Amino acid sequence: MSVDLTTQYLGLKLKNPLVASASPMTGNLESLQRLEEAGAAAVVLPSLFEEQIDHEQVAIQQLQEFQTDSFAESLDYFPELDTYNTGPNSYLKKIELAKKELAIPVIGSLNGGCRGGWTRYARMIQDSGADALELNIYFVPTDAESSSQATEAQYLGLVSSVRETISIPLAVKIGPYFSSLPEMAKRLVDAGASGLVLFNRYLEPDIDLETLDVVPFLQLSRRSELHLPLRWIALLHGQLQASLAATSGIHKADDVIKTLLAGADVAMLASALLEHGPQHLRNVLQDVETWITDREYTSVTQLKGSVSRLNCTDPGAYERSNYMKALVSYTGKNI
Ligand SMILES: Cc1cc2nc3c(=O)[nH]c(=O)nc-3n(C[C@H](O)[C@H](O)[C@H](O)COP(=O)(O)O)c2cc1C
Repeated sequence: MSVDLTTQYLGLKLKNPLVASASPMTGNLESLQRLEEAGAAAVVLPSLFEEQIDHEQVAIQQLQEFQTDSFAESLDYFPELDTYNTGPNSYLKKIELAKKELAIPVIGSLNGGCRGGWTRYARMIQDSGADALELNIYFVPTDAESSSQATEAQYLGLVSSVRETISIPLAVKIGPYFSSLPEMAKRLVDAGASGLVLFNRYLEPDIDLETLDVVPFLQLSRRSELHLPLRWIALLHGQLQASLAATSGIHKADDVIKTLLAGADVAMLASALLEHGPQHLRNVLQDVETWITDREYTSVTQLKGSVSRLNCTDPGAYERSNYMKALVSYTGKNI
């Protein structure tokens, strides 16, 4: 019997739950095509970063000031910033090209932490044909005087201003570090998020002991990182009027199955694809289908959320009680 692998994500009907997450793997047409051939149901393009946008705005402003100082009449030649056609232009072209060449949905991505020119670029990404936008909010509060309310307000302001600007579905990619993640998740949805992508994998800096410089530290993920999104997806499933995507630590079919059982609508892969190439996705997809068939499920929908906190036999396992059990049951050769 054939299995119905389709899933709904952000209101889009996807042929299966495997999505290629934003990474260099989704950054050029050739690898996008290879991902589609391997069975990816959708792709998220690498982000357009706030820093690129800021840089762009400064450059445009300088250009305008320079020119308008020189020639009063040149004011007429310069379009409004809103319609200026330069810079992240190549990003927008990439979306157009991907849309032209691929049959699967193409999701654009913006990455930053403050409102800036984002709404303008969100609109441009929509106008380039993207099927949805993923907003990766990567904001690190550093000031001991800055309150959690202010940080949360920044997130919500950003989401609602982008939501007001575009009509395509809006996914919001966040980290796990909120005092009450479920409440924050709900407020993000109320502010206009059509879906949440859990979780952003923050790259922590390191210190080089030779130079005493602070250096970036980028490592591909490990499968054990899945436990964090898995738990929160299981807790959030059924509580929000929004899609849930799992990202971080999804490398194999078992990881995909677990995220679906917890309640995710899609499983996103980046590190595993960077490590093994786009073809890896085909193997994962085949193994997912085999697992589902062997267990006599008939569809992904049937699987979704069946081991979420709402539906599992021991909801406490997702809460505090498992913590004590795990600590007490630890055995190791040195104790
Ligand atoms: C080299 C690299 C580049 C990435 N670039 C982006 C990006 O541009 N935007 C974004 O939202 N996430 C980016 N990510 C994060 C991935 O999309 C993904 O969420 C994260 O790596 C966790 O998934 P994984 O365990 O499958 O790698 C990047 C990850 C890697 C490893």
